Amino acid sequence: MELTREEERILAGEEGEARQRAMRLLVVLGKIFGAERMIRVRSAQISGVSYRTIGDAGLEFLEDFAEAGAKASIMATLNPCGMDLRRWKRMGIPCEFAEKQLRIARAFARMGVKLTWTCTPYYASNRPRFGQSLAWAESSAVAFANSVLGARTNREGGPAALASAVVGRTPLYGLHLDSEREPTHSVEVRLKPSNDLDYGLLGYLLGKSLGGGVPLLSGLGGPSLDELKYMGASAAASGGIALFHVEGVTPEAKRKRFDGRGLEALEVDGKDLDAIKDSISSSRDFDWVLLGCPHLSLAELRTIAEAVRGKRLRKRLMCFTSRAVRADASKRGYIRAIERAGGLVACDTCMVVSPLEAMGIDGAYTNSCKAAHYMPSLSGAEAALRSLRDCIHAAL
Ligand code: F3S
Repeated sequence: MELTREEERILAGEEGEARQRAMRLLVVLGKIFGAERMIRVRSAQISGVSYRTIGDAGLEFLEDFAEAGAKASIMATLNPCGMDLRRWKRMGIPCEFAEKQLRIARAFARMGVKLTWTCTPYYASNRPRFGQSLAWAESSAVAFANSVLGARTNREGGPAALASAVVGRTPLYGLHLDSEREPTHSVEVRLKPSNDLDYGLLGYLLGKSLGGGVPLLSGLGGPSLDELKYMGASAAASGGIALFHVEGVTPEAKRKRFDGRGLEALEVDGKDLDAIKDSISSSRDFDWVLLGCPHLSLAELRTIAEAVRGKRLRKRLMCFTSRAVRADASKRGYIRAIERAGGLVACDTCMVVSPLEAMGIDGAYTNSCKAAHYMPSLSGAEAALRSLRDCIHAAL
């Protein structure tokens, strides 16, 4: 790789051990992917922050990196961790787990990373603009940033995103290049998705059928940002899709008329969605309703609050969102309405990275195909898929 003089200096250790280690990792990554040089990135979104997923080895790595003097040099935000750092006792998190998770939080704080603990940084302080280069690790946020905001990021791993946070750079390859952002498949959608779950199932089907690539979708009406959020999260969970275009909707497909001719084609209808739902959704009845994968937006919390205000929930409802969105929702009375009805609005964590089995949850209603994909393998819990509104009805 061709490095600038400053990058050479960092690599030689002239700016300290931590920056040297970060640059080394990125150079190796760049060589693997054939990058010619580094580019500067505006922000990093760091994943692999839950004690549940990184364990003692990950905790030791982070404490050691912080001890070596690692410091974020650009805006760096964090994915959800294994518990709500303030309400973990109410969540039923065991003390031993909480202690380790708090050590992880302290390591990131020492490194100057913003303790946002959310996979929807774009709803809070880290909302990139069109064309900006990023180093984001969190597949749902990557899909949203690339597809819905038109920013540019590869699907980084947690250590690579942290390294980019430290040196403010990433190797130039993959979705940072115009050529890699061209559609590879054309997808004709022959149904009108009517809610968040339909969009999630559509995304799940794309990931499963295509595996990867850049689908160009036609036939979709005007999906909301939240519906696109669910579609991207599911496509990234069941496959490796990090960018999709929707004709007339997403920013690159609006600015450029992509020609779908000659691309590998796929048609999707209602029967396909039913089949994919049957393959991942449990038919059991559960006592729990878990919402917020990806983290809930303010609009979604308003929908939940309006539906449950003044009522009493019959099932246990846990909602997951970011601290920033929770604070906003609290000012508007949404949190009070949900919690007076018997629900809990947790932040910093989610249903996939928290230890559900230790919390006594063996299954739940949810609107998230991504959660339905990961819950069985990570915590042995099942998911019964419903739309957001039907999940609320189930809770009531
Ligand atoms: Fe976010 Fe957790 Fe789902 S990180 S996308 S809420 S698995």
